[in-house]
Amino acid sequence: MIDTNQIQGTISPYLHGQFVEFLGHGITDGIWVGRESDIPNIDGLREGIVDALAKLAPPVVRWPGGCYADTYHWRDGIGKPENRPTTYNENFGTYEQDQHQFGTDEFMHFCELIGAEPWLNINLLSGSVQEMKEWMEYCNRKETTSLSNERKANGHPEPYNVQFWEIGNEAWAGGGFMTPQDYVRKYRQYSSAMPTFKQNIFDKSKIYKIASGPDGNKPLERINWTRDLLNEISKYRQPEINALDLHFYNWNLDSDTDMPTSFQEDDWYRVIKGARELALVIAEQKQLIKDGLEKMPVPESSMDQQLQKIDLIVGEWGIWHKASFMAKPALLQQVTMRDAIATAISLNILQENCENVSMACVAQTVNVLNSLIITDQDKTVLTPNFDVFMMYKKFQGSRLVQYQTREKNQFVDIFAAIQDEILTVCLINSHINSKQVVQVDFQHLAKGIFAERLVADDVTDYNSAEHPNTVRTKQISFTDKISTMKEFDLPAASINIFQFKLI
Ligand code: AHR
Repeated sequence: MIDTNQIQGTISPYLHGQFVEFLGHGITDGIWVGRESDIPNIDGLREGIVDALAKLAPPVVRWPGGCYADTYHWRDGIGKPENRPTTYNENFGTYEQDQHQFGTDEFMHFCELIGAEPWLNINLLSGSVQEMKEWMEYCNRKETTSLSNERKANGHPEPYNVQFWEIGNEAWAGGGFMTPQDYVRKYRQYSSAMPTFKQNIFDKSKIYKIASGPDGNKPLERINWTRDLLNEISKYRQPEINALDLHFYNWNLDSDTDMPTSFQEDDWYRVIKGARELALVIAEQKQLIKDGLEKMPVPESSMDQQLQKIDLIVGEWGIWHKASFMAKPALLQQVTMRDAIATAISLNILQENCENVSMACVAQTVNVLNSLIITDQDKTVLTPNFDVFMMYKKFQGSRLVQYQTREKNQFVDIFAAIQDEILTVCLINSHINSKQVVQVDFQHLAKGIFAERLVADDVTDYNSAEHPNTVRTKQISFTDKISTMKEFDLPAASINIFQFKLI
């Protein structure tokens, strides 16, 4: 039954965020081709990517990492391109020189062109409080200062007004192998030194401070990151933490023969099962945050009341195939229907948790892991994941309703939301080779008005430079009567969106 009277929250566009990093060909040769390149570009940004992402209009993009954030010095990436230093990046086998042609101003330009808000990640490991402060001043200071003048001289008179700032990345691993206690001590220093950019004391604008959250599905031995971090911050005056950034990778590491474009049935189901773990991880983290906040001492002043809420963000999520560790460029993996279905299931889970998760970024947008876009020389190829995000765009801003199929079917995931009397229903058939037929009762009379489907001839099919549209969403003809019961015939391994007008 789809019960449109049972509204369960509103689906924030921020759940469809993106993540780009100087890793493999994520930026170099991916997003960034350079102003002198023969590849069509807009001020050095690959036109094919800008055009595709402008259509998708992601709400937010996180940069410069990831792990790279903890080696990144923002000053390397501003000013005249020819004066920028060259540094070396070993992260995840990137083994490449960064000539820093894509820096803060180029990233902001990219965000403007695709209609996204920027999320900047501060270097906690090899940076300093002063460096963070200066980066923030460069980006956001409206008043005339040496740093805002420098931004103006670099062509940007108006401040960028970056709202989202994360302090460190994966502090429990490559971000310093810190204990929650170490991290909270450093976080306090960075957080208290952050400028507010307020115009007066009543100014409500705010910097949204994000703390390094846990590794969702690989709990650390002896350390429960979220529990111990909240316990630590409760000991003294609380630092402001607006959100914890949980990272969730769907690790596909159990088989040496499983390749991104060649796999067996059990490999298929392992990845699908892995995607579903995200629901458990979110539930666990929400409970840990709730328990931690309940144990906090009662705030002494009303000014501190606002600190009693910490959002959960999933700042990196996606499928990580074992073969990608050996890939050249680093962490490049092809995307088949298996990845697309796991991606759609993940988006369902994030949207079902729209009351529990405030923002999420897929890892990563271009040429790295669970990509939406893969480039090959001058070609820009949209993967099936791009189609999934385009299909799910229909859910942005709509209200989640209660739903279930008439009979429980372990292979069929259903998701439904309503906006302006249009009900959008997504049905995923994750059976690798058999179609599923499901019936869904509607609480109101409804008439189908639109349907589209993502399905491949073979589950290992993918899009390439030679065959860029092998796996592409197709609108399907859909003749539907006004009724309260609908039957759906779902091809094997397919993602299906249906829209209904409520009568
Ligand atoms: O997305 C690739 C890497 O995975 C990121 O740099 C890091 O944060 C995570 O471990």
